[in-house]
Amino acid sequence: MTQHFWSELTEELNKSVTEKEHPYRFVTLGTVGNERLARLRTVVLRHVNENLNLIFYTDKRSKKVLHIKENNRVSMLFYHPELLLQLKVEGLAYILKDEDAKDRYWSNIHENSKKDYTSHKAPGSEISNPDHVEYLTNDHYFCAIEVEPFKIEYLKLKRPNHIRVRFSKENSDWNGEFLVP
Ligand SMILES: Cc1cc2nc3c(=O)[nH]c(=O)nc-3n(C[C@H](O)[C@H](O)[C@H](O)COP(=O)(O)O)c2cc1C
Repeated sequence: MTQHFWSELTEELNKSVTEKEHPYRFVTLGTVGNERLARLRTVVLRHVNENLNLIFYTDKRSKKVLHIKENNRVSMLFYHPELLLQLKVEGLAYILKDEDAKDRYWSNIHENSKKDYTSHKAPGSEISNPDHVEYLTNDHYFCAIEVEPFKIEYLKLKRPNHIRVRFSKENSDWNGEFLVP
């Protein structure tokens, strides 16, 4: 009975990486490192693979990467304002080690955007002037993070009944249960 909702959520996630205007393109990523304070930030969802693993790009010196090394249990929050559809994803994050995939991702990034991964100083370093950031020309700190979801919560606000479904991954199967919204 929950299959319809599963199809909808997977369809929307898949659409978000090909449709530039799709609201799931920008996702809130939550990490909790050793200091035990949830840290949230927006990232761009770049790929959704056949197992529904979610991939985004970042600078390997960033705080989120440190957090993932300390604790790889992360959350991702998606919201679609027209569908009134929220997805809460919980999963395990891995720094992508597949060099071929990494090279492929890197070579497909627009030249102007490559700057985002080549600052001389690490992201979050203090600077006296935002125009004075130096960039490396022959090196980069690009990395891709793959999140393997183990729980996805679907919530749609609608009349007469809101719909809330918890999908849990057991082995490689997803099972859904309705919850009180
Ligand atoms: C619209 C938007 C998209 C962003 N996309 C990314 C992204 O794909 N990857 C990334 O590392 N940071 C991205 N950022 C910056 C992050 O939100 C964050 O400020 C930065 O990565 C530092 O986070 P951290 O110190 O917690 O690691 C984006 C910010 C905005 C406003």
